[in-house]
Amino acid sequence: MSPSTSRRHAIAVLPGDGIGPEVIRQAVKVLDALRSPAFDVELRYAPVGGAGLEAVGHPLPQATLDLALASNAVLFGAVGDPRHDSLAPELRPEKAILGLRRSLGLFACLKAITIPPDLAHLSPLKSERAAGVDLLVVRELDGDAYTGQPKGERTATSGPFAGQREGHDSMAYAEGEVLRVAHIAFQAARQRRQRLCSVDKASVLASSRLWREVVTGVSAGYPDVALTHAYADNAAMQLVANPAAFDVLLTGNLFGDILGDVASVLTGSIGLPASALVGSARRGMFEAGHGTALDIAGKNLANPMACIRAAALMLRHSLGRPDLATRIDNAVVQVLRAGHRTRELPGAGAAMGTEAIGDAVVAALS
Ligand code: IPM
Ligand code: MG
Repeated sequence: MSPSTSRRHAIAVLPGDGIGPEVIRQAVKVLDALRSPAFDVELRYAPVGGAGLEAVGHPLPQATLDLALASNAVLFGAVGDPRHDSLAPELRPEKAILGLRRSLGLFACLKAITIPPDLAHLSPLKSERAAGVDLLVVRELDGDAYTGQPKGERTATSGPFAGQREGHDSMAYAEGEVLRVAHIAFQAARQRRQRLCSVDKASVLASSRLWREVVTGVSAGYPDVALTHAYADNAAMQLVANPAAFDVLLTGNLFGDILGDVASVLTGSIGLPASALVGSARRGMFEAGHGTALDIAGKNLANPMACIRAAALMLRHSLGRPDLATRIDNAVVQVLRAGHRTRELPGAGAAMGTEAIGDAVVAALS
């Protein structure tokens, strides 16, 4: 894909299910407010997840995938609905996420978690622990137990439960898979505080032992970055007990899924930080990274800030407009500082709705 250097950027907008559409609407509001003679977006909407199932009977319609592949970036809402839990694995809404990641070659998920000291009161942690947290979770996004083969159901052949049905997945990492994501993490560490903690479970897992060996090998090319290793369980504990100690945290797909959510909520809500899903092309996919929150969907209660920040990440990583990204990021922080919040965040004043927060961010842009 050629870099998006023109003024008009083609963006595939995939709202998805649950609160996806309403948080996407706020992000679009912000993008619309930034339009100028020097910056324009062509927003191309397509159904995904449960919306794809309803539209054409598939969670990732071919037309949606084609549109994503033909765009400069993808802005993604959320997918998933327990009503579809009984569908075959290929038809479950989550399959759309995995299909998009694979087809777009997105093998790393970058989630920055920052807690300015004056916003530490939003955190579920004691303020003195949360204040000043500034870490980046780099999660491998294409391998591990998510895609390792074989997987499925079979008959257990050994052990006390031989003869019974057995579900199985394969936790596997090839050298090249670890290499490419490790380089992304080391390069990011170089731009930050030059510290990288690689998370695995090398005490137990063969895939983790190879992971650790490859990451250690890559570190030789980054003598300026201090590498440490932590077991996943210990990393989870440290994330809660002493999150300010982390700079870059590099993890595999499954551990990263869990640690990414733990890290997110340190800010106060998984509705605050956003994720950039990247690969070797400039085109990335950008998302809030929270779920569909069906209990509050359509009620104007969801926090749109993570999705708005996803739009900022898109401007920075795929559209070559870090200046506009910074304006959005500053506007979001300004709105939080003013005490404006959705109801899941603590605070004295009245909670605001999704639309009102979107409007407040737009107002803070100028
Ligand atoms: C995420 C989600 C997905 C994942 C699910 C919905 C497949 O939890 O983006 O973190 O596990 O990667
Ligand atoms: Mg997850």
